[in-house]
Amino acid sequence: MKGIILAGGAGSRLYPLTRVASKQLQPVYDKPMVYYPLTTLIEGGIRELCVISTPQDLPRFMQLLGDGKAWGLTIEYREQLKPAGIAQAFLIAESFIGSDSVTLILGDNVFYGGDSFHRAFAEFKSGATIFGYHVNDPERYGVVEFDAQGQAISIEEKPKQARSNYAVPGLYLFDNSVVAITRALKPSARGELEITDVNVAYLRRGQLRVHRLSRGFAWLDAGTSSSLHEASAYVQTIEKRVGVKIGCPEEAAYRAGFLKLDQLEELTHKMPKCEYREYLDKEVIAEARRLAASRP
Ligand code: G1P
Repeated sequence: MKGIILAGGAGSRLYPLTRVASKQLQPVYDKPMVYYPLTTLIEGGIRELCVISTPQDLPRFMQLLGDGKAWGLTIEYREQLKPAGIAQAFLIAESFIGSDSVTLILGDNVFYGGDSFHRAFAEFKSGATIFGYHVNDPERYGVVEFDAQGQAISIEEKPKQARSNYAVPGLYLFDNSVVAITRALKPSARGELEITDVNVAYLRRGQLRVHRLSRGFAWLDAGTSSSLHEASAYVQTIEKRVGVKIGCPEEAAYRAGFLKLDQLEELTHKMPKCEYREYLDKEVIAEARRLAASRP
């Protein structure tokens, strides 16, 4: 399965922060925002990635993430000339997707906890898999309604009156028909190719699976000044309490088997002396060596 990180948009809700650096490059506590969705995809076992952003911002993402080789990945880049909707990503990245299935994650979505995603990636075969997450303000999102048996029966984009409290987070898994489905879509009233319309198309075909994320799971979006601040505070709180980092692609790549321990060590030792390096050194590398030495 291929992976797309969509990091477009003007970031106007974060102005003036976004005057010179795009939203997905802003810090969420101790890392650039895009590290979080990148880590989520790596944890899902995705190695071939494509980052989509605006022509102005794309060079910055290339500078930050490179060709991915250092993390055992391949990363390609594509430009989104105009913000014409999330689903447009499948048309922009058509040559990247080829004949594969694809997962798309939004560059401002931060996830933490549980193994729901891991399972969804591992179990994915065909059709579409999306998620439902209980929120206080479903009207801001795509909203999924379930019947008494827990089957999804409707999905609406930013409805005035939400039929449930389950919002659809920005992580979607699709088989290869997503390209043809998107090509057949008409832009919505706001002039966008809506990801919700893609999901509705799969629902109509009887090929949509919706996993409800459990209560302990955290989904944060970091698109406004206050949600950005809250996401930072959340990450800091968890990292301090638990002693592990959220959104650390080097660690995720090692744990996913994309990097050997020696490669992780080499990569880490190129970093300046900082708290991030110290974490990888002490909590990941030294710990792995200690475990390996204690094995009979
Ligand atoms: C988009 C999608 C929406 C989804 C949300 C998740 O909303 O259109 O269905 O629930 O991302 O973050 P937007 O970012 O356009 O507000």
